[in-house]
Amino acid sequence: MRIVDIIQRKRDGHELTNKQIVTLLDSYLEGTVPDYQVSAFLMAVYFRGMTDAELKTFTDCMMRSGDLVEFHGVNKFLVDKHSTGGVGDKTTIALAPLLAAFDIGTAKLSGKGLGHTGGTIDKLEAIPGFTFPETRDELVKNVNETGIGIMGYSENIVPLDKRLYSLRDVTATVSSIPLIASSIMSKKLAVYADGIMLDVKVGAGAFMKNEEDARLLAKTMLGIGKSFDRKMVVHLTNMDQPLGLAVGNSLEVIEAIETLKGNGPEDFTQLILHLTGTALFLNGRAETIEAGTEMADRMISTEEPLEKMRMFIRSCGGDAGIVDDYSRIPVATNTLDVLSKESGYVSQIEAEEIGKAAMILGAGRPTKESVIDHSVGLVLNKKVGDKVKAGEKLATLYYTGDEHLQQASEKTVKAFSFSIEPVPASPVLLDTIQ
Ligand code: URA
Repeated sequence: MRIVDIIQRKRDGHELTNKQIVTLLDSYLEGTVPDYQVSAFLMAVYFRGMTDAELKTFTDCMMRSGDLVEFHGVNKFLVDKHSTGGVGDKTTIALAPLLAAFDIGTAKLSGKGLGHTGGTIDKLEAIPGFTFPETRDELVKNVNETGIGIMGYSENIVPLDKRLYSLRDVTATVSSIPLIASSIMSKKLAVYADGIMLDVKVGAGAFMKNEEDARLLAKTMLGIGKSFDRKMVVHLTNMDQPLGLAVGNSLEVIEAIETLKGNGPEDFTQLILHLTGTALFLNGRAETIEAGTEMADRMISTEEPLEKMRMFIRSCGGDAGIVDDYSRIPVATNTLDVLSKESGYVSQIEAEEIGKAAMILGAGRPTKESVIDHSVGLVLNKKVGDKVKAGEKLATLYYTGDEHLQQASEKTVKAFSFSIEPVPASPVLLDTIQ
């Protein structure tokens, strides 16, 4: 069948066969189908969606377009926790040592931050001496020895996704749920994990702005995961305010460690415990997620997760002394308190604005090429539901140069909305879908 006929079938709402999908994608990868035909196909998918069978084949083709990473020889139950990107999201850094304390391994590829959202790779690179494994063998060695293996994405993991994403970006088809779901899931499936936990962020600062779309995305990804026989749970979590209090690389590492010491912000601690409970459930060690969460709650107050954190940092050549002495991790010494101009109850903290304020200070990358400053960022002093008086501190900015300080301060103030009526604290966990 000619490519134009495949596009036409999709346009007219017919289900494509496996062979038609494979022909289209493989030919595109080989360079025998031009961008304009694939763009037309993506637009047809945008309007017509994909059936479960089409999605499975489409995701499978994407996944096989590059390297598949398997972990033969790893002697642990492996989980991969992935979030759709948030502000203040230091989850992996606290979660992996807590899971390791239960002998559950984390083997994952992580990304660098871009724009207002940060990346796990940048956060961990704030630790002096820390470098990531570069080969699969090193990754496996780290998982076996410490329970934690994290490395950066290689160019050759799902290369088709990069090409399709570039087309989606310029054809207004990024927001198609089946295209997002297959893009995320192909990358998750290309790197083997026994259990997949996806965290779909919902709210003003997130990719999914409302719960209805987020739930649809979650169910679509779950369907794909199940069709590949993977154990999987999807959480919907709140991004109507940043996660925790710290935003910025070193500051977030410190907050993750404090959380393992039992001193973390309430929302972040709750999320970490729930995710650990989910992993214990997927591993069959807890009958329910709630029972697993209770096990996690008992573990977090012990020395075990901190020791796993030290081992993990050491295995990557980093200074494990930071766990007990935060003066060993670079934190900017210049600070500015951002004060409230209004009185009332905090009703929202726009995560995107806060992420941009941190980026302006140098914590994030406006472009892929930008160099970041690990030492800068901000720490919130108020969260949704808190009562604030005019003149009270909303946040503290940590900065090195004061060139953009005023702009960052203004953005931070602007991020806060107030209500004169009391506002309930915002729950971090909106739903769990399995
Ligand atoms: N994240 C991805 O990896 N892919 C998308 O399409 C959207 C968000």
